[in-house]
Amino acid sequence: MSFNLNFKPFINYESIVTFIIPEKDTINAACMGVHFTTNQEVYIYAFEGSLTKQYLKPGMIFSINFSENFDDYVIAALHDKSLEDHALIFEKNLFKTLEPVPIFKSSWCSVLCEVAEIPKNALQRPLCRRRETTNIRGIIKSSEVYNLPQIFNNRSMNLGLEALIIATRIPLYDQYSQMYTENLKIYQNIKKKIEEWRDMDRFEKGFEMMDQYLLNKGVKAQDLFGGLF
Ligand SMILES: Cc1cc2nc3c(=O)[nH]c(=O)nc-3n(C[C@H](O)[C@H](O)[C@H](O)COP(=O)(O)O)c2cc1C
Repeated sequence: MSFNLNFKPFINYESIVTFIIPEKDTINAACMGVHFTTNQEVYIYAFEGSLTKQYLKPGMIFSINFSENFDDYVIAALHDKSLEDHALIFEKNLFKTLEPVPIFKSSWCSVLCEVAEIPKNALQRPLCRRRETTNIRGIIKSSEVYNLPQIFNNRSMNLGLEALIIATRIPLYDQYSQMYTENLKIYQNIKKKIEEWRDMDRFEKGFEMMDQYLLNKGVKAQDLFGGLF
């Protein structure tokens, strides 16, 4: 069965961008919001200092993955970039293929792109509605839908992704600042909600990874699991 999927332009789709780091021959994966346009191309805004920004230069190929597995997003977002060998974290068995670009086993769709220069006029007025000026443009070479996702527009998945973004930010705030306590509270509330909805089984491992990440980054156990509020 083949599936025809059209991405709506000017919508931010949460994806996992993967590529092979050339000189190390290792896998990289990062959660990235991706904007499609009407011209078979995509725009990404990658933070300064990210490996994605560093390596996705014109001519490089990468894959946009849409996965059904929340753990894939967690692993991609929380991987330890300080480690020399990224392949240690992005275990090869997470991927259905590594050639020409890594594609997660749980990806229901992947889009293969080649990085191209951003036209000058798009720098001032990008062809997408990102708030930040985009810095990576990909030309779509091919795309594949392996299966349609079994769960559409699921509240837990959306909240899980929100919790993941919050988990990446909490260590950046001053401990016990307003932002710190507010975000820790939102993180706990999201967890509680998903538990109340009895949908935690799909998210349990991901939340365990996020909890552990926060503890490793200095969040106190009593604040993470209750005491603070
Ligand atoms: C759901 C989600 C969406 C994200 N979107 C972006 C994004 O659009 N651009 C970006 O630079 N980082 C984004 N991030 C943060 C990156 O995933 C994070 O900085 C990551 O460590 C970058 O990995 P890299 O160094 O391998 O590129 C997002 C994180 C999450 C959890």
